[in-house]
Amino acid sequence: MIKIKILTGSVRPGRFNTQPANWIYEIAKGRTDIHVELLDVASLNLPLLDEPVPPSQRQYTKTHTKEWSKIIDNADGFIFVTPEYNHSFSPVLKNAIDYLWFEWHHKPVSYVSYGSLAGGSRAVEHLRSIAAETKMYDLREQILLPNYWEHLDEEGKYQFTDRHVHAANGILDDLIFWAKTMKAARKTLQSTQ
Ligand SMILES: Cc1cc2nc3c(=O)[nH]c(=O)nc-3n(C[C@H](O)[C@H](O)[C@H](O)COP(=O)(O)O)c2cc1C
Repeated sequence: MIKIKILTGSVRPGRFNTQPANWIYEIAKGRTDIHVELLDVASLNLPLLDEPVPPSQRQYTKTHTKEWSKIIDNADGFIFVTPEYNHSFSPVLKNAIDYLWFEWHHKPVSYVSYGSLAGGSRAVEHLRSIAAETKMYDLREQILLPNYWEHLDEEGKYQFTDRHVHAANGILDDLIFWAKTMKAARKTLQSTQ
């Protein structure tokens, strides 16, 4: 079974992040061909990177790193749900990515982002360059939620539309295809590196 992991990207009190993260998680759970898990960066208990040796050496000393490594090792593809902070993605998401190296390799990644007019697109552009460096398989498809605060109901709940659901299924189709393809390819790629 292909394992897709959805990673949140904010730990702020009152964060909006959990809304799009839970939304895409529920849609992904409806797929029969994958196992999906929602990873909340707020629950990972990762301090600012505190390993003495860079992750490319895979000499982890801390329990939290070893646990995080196992979680990402055991994934075939990712959806990052990211806010945009000062035209980039959040420091907590960067920190979680920086902890590891091999664990990200040759696995597809797609994005859900939100913010003001640009809908978090500048955050995603930065994530794409990080994906290249960590040898993830960066997918074009993404969901943007521009000016998300204009689409909240009286209780502060974002009003997702059928168009959003259609787009979400589109990115899942692509992600699952590449997760399966890259799972097979990883064996060859890893043995040549
Ligand atoms: C430090 C900081 C910087 C921000 N910079 C941007 C920005 O560059 N572009 C943007 O669209 N929104 C920006 N915003 C507004 C965020 O899109 C908005 O606060 C959003 O709710 C943050 O996501 P979160 O609630 O999940 O943490 C910024 C917010 C913060 C806290």
